[in-house]
Amino acid sequence: MSTDHSTTRIATTRLGTDGPVTGVQGLGCMGMNFGYGPTDADEARATLERALELGVTLFDTADMYGSGENEKFLSPFFRAHREELLVATKFGIVLDPEDPSRRTVRNDTAHIRKSVEGSLARLGIDTIDLYYMHRIDPEIPIEETVGTMAELVAEGKVRRLGLSEVTGDELRRAHAVHPISALQSEWSLFSRDVERTAVPAAKELGVVFVPYSPLGRGFLTGSFVAADKELTSGDSRRTMPRFSGDNAAANAALLEPVRKLAERRGATLGQIALAWVQQQATLRDMTVVPIPGTRKRSRLAENTAATRIELDAEELALLDPIADSVRGGRYADPKFTSAGRE
Ligand SMILES: NC(=O)c1ccc[n+]([C@@H]2O[C@H](COP(=O)([O-])OP(=O)(O)OC[C@H]3O[C@@H](n4cnc5c(N)ncnc54)[C@H](OP(=O)(O)O)[C@@H]3O)[C@@H](O)[C@H]2O)c1
Repeated sequence: MSTDHSTTRIATTRLGTDGPVTGVQGLGCMGMNFGYGPTDADEARATLERALELGVTLFDTADMYGSGENEKFLSPFFRAHREELLVATKFGIVLDPEDPSRRTVRNDTAHIRKSVEGSLARLGIDTIDLYYMHRIDPEIPIEETVGTMAELVAEGKVRRLGLSEVTGDELRRAHAVHPISALQSEWSLFSRDVERTAVPAAKELGVVFVPYSPLGRGFLTGSFVAADKELTSGDSRRTMPRFSGDNAAANAALLEPVRKLAERRGATLGQIALAWVQQQATLRDMTVVPIPGTRKRSRLAENTAATRIELDAEELALLDPIADSVRGGRYADPKFTSAGRE
């Protein structure tokens, strides 16, 4: 399966029952010029084109990624293929220009209005297909944030609304104000806290679940172990507790069942990880559109091929215990996750 670099297009689903058709796997574009070390811009641009050829139509960015630079990088591609793809971006996290590792969350109405205009201008498009709140602002009730977002829909600046890293309760409160199309939170073989409240609420409300970092930020592919030693100095993964020191070594050992299945299936570790999260759709009878990030054409073909792998019950049982043994949090600050508020 890992050598399946064919031109087979991925299957489609809908972004919500009355929503637009989209490929069952999207593309995370953050790493194309932000967060994950040095990049090759030409190869990243070619990867975007390749994604579309393979049936990937949901492209994910945020105004925070490179403080707007990621949106600018994607703009020519989005404009050239506007009718063929869905643009998803986010507001709410503000990086300190002096020190980008320091961030604040702002969801007041003035900030949301300024953010949407900024994103539209940088993206060079008239309407954002899916506009996400990136994180909850502890100072602003979710109802107020979604109220402002709903105004953007009424004004035609935004087509559909999404939320990131909210609990099941927060999703319900938001959905009562305006329909929420998608919930984007981390979900992978290593990160399953969303299964407590967010996943059941999304299923109940018919909200599409968009798992971010489905490859555990690359760790699940086996391509690095100790982020602090192996990754370059600006790479954000160096600050994430689970990827450094003793945690990294212990967590790498947890990949053994993934490796075993990959060998048995003639697949890569990453493909097994993606197949697992994709299969949550059928297992739970809900829509799940993972957005693995890559800036390399070869990896894209490998990742989309994973949508065609179906794990059997015995294989799923082998993978099931992994997440409970993962050492170290997802972020240095646990409040940055929905689980931190449950
Ligand atoms: N809502 C949020 O708070 C939030 C947080 C994080 C991310 N996101 C979104 O989710 C997207 C995906 O998450 P992510 O990029 O953090 O993590 P990910 O998709 O789990 O992993 C991406 C990493 O894996 C590597 N990779 C991808 N395919 C691979 C393959 N087949 N073999 C080996 N390595 C592979 C990539 O490197 P290369 O690029 O070099 O291939 C990159 O370093 C982001 O791009 C962003 O749009 C959202």
